[in-house]
Amino acid sequence: MNFKGRSIISIRDLSVDDITNILGTAQKIESLTSQSPSKTLNIAKGKVIASLFFEPSTRTRLSFETAMQMLGAKVIGFSGTEGTSVKKGETLKDTALTVAQYADMIVMRHPLEGSARYVSEVAGIPVINGGDGANQHPTQTLLDLYTIAKRKGKISGLTIAMVGDLKYGRTVHSLAYALSLFDNIRLIFVSPEELKMPKYLVDEISKKQNIDIVETRDISDEVLKSDVIYVTRIQKERFPDPQEYHRLKSAYVIDAKLMEGAAKNTIVMHPLPRVDEISTDVDTMENAVYFPQAGNGVPVRMALILLLLGYDV
Ligand code: CP
Repeated sequence: MNFKGRSIISIRDLSVDDITNILGTAQKIESLTSQSPSKTLNIAKGKVIASLFFEPSTRTRLSFETAMQMLGAKVIGFSGTEGTSVKKGETLKDTALTVAQYADMIVMRHPLEGSARYVSEVAGIPVINGGDGANQHPTQTLLDLYTIAKRKGKISGLTIAMVGDLKYGRTVHSLAYALSLFDNIRLIFVSPEELKMPKYLVDEISKKQNIDIVETRDISDEVLKSDVIYVTRIQKERFPDPQEYHRLKSAYVIDAKLMEGAAKNTIVMHPLPRVDEISTDVDTMENAVYFPQAGNGVPVRMALILLLLGYDV
């Protein structure tokens, strides 16, 4: 894929070769920035990038804005719609068409599923989806894959357990799909019955060759001995019934005691933010990689911005 001028809305926009290309570019960027005294690469100097966050975010917004700054681009935008003309009833289309007058690229998060695709169709500049409702969060998937590859030296051939809210968690939907593009993957989906991975997705990825899928409610010995345990938050804000959330919210807690049964080289990942599904006593264990995982958002998002703007590294 030639990335220049494209939008990244869904992980489904990317082939395995595209993903390999983005992760390879991120690796080069990480190496270059670690050697640069200023830790910056001013490749995108003169570009303006809009960061439009209609919904709360810490990691996605700040790592994107760090990536933009480290590339030398100017950053405009908002975090929350307070103080914008959205409050006066401006449509998403009009906001997008206006921002496209100022910026070379839009990075956005919005609560409405399909919103990023819509903006990419009307804005006339590249759009990167930083999360649209419970739908897609492709750059989280890219940094998850980058973290797995960095820690494990490969992606193919691994066993990955996903634990928690597999129904509403957009990160696990995208990650499960992306992993199914690689060879000899074993996926263990651990969730309460009510929060299982959507059937359409399980059916779709089951059809791929060289993939094993297990669905269970239990954190079994096999889960603890997986290459990766990917934990997710129970997504309170997506539950139509608050009582159901309260019934399920503490379904799984990964703590240091439970981790005594894990393999030494099992890594524990989490897209964050967490509530109580990973106890803080896990944070100091070598298995815990969720904060470095968040850090990997910077080189991966730098890579994506550069590729979409048509730059090479
Ligand atoms: N992982 C993630 O998307 O975190 P934020 O909601 O803080 O951006």
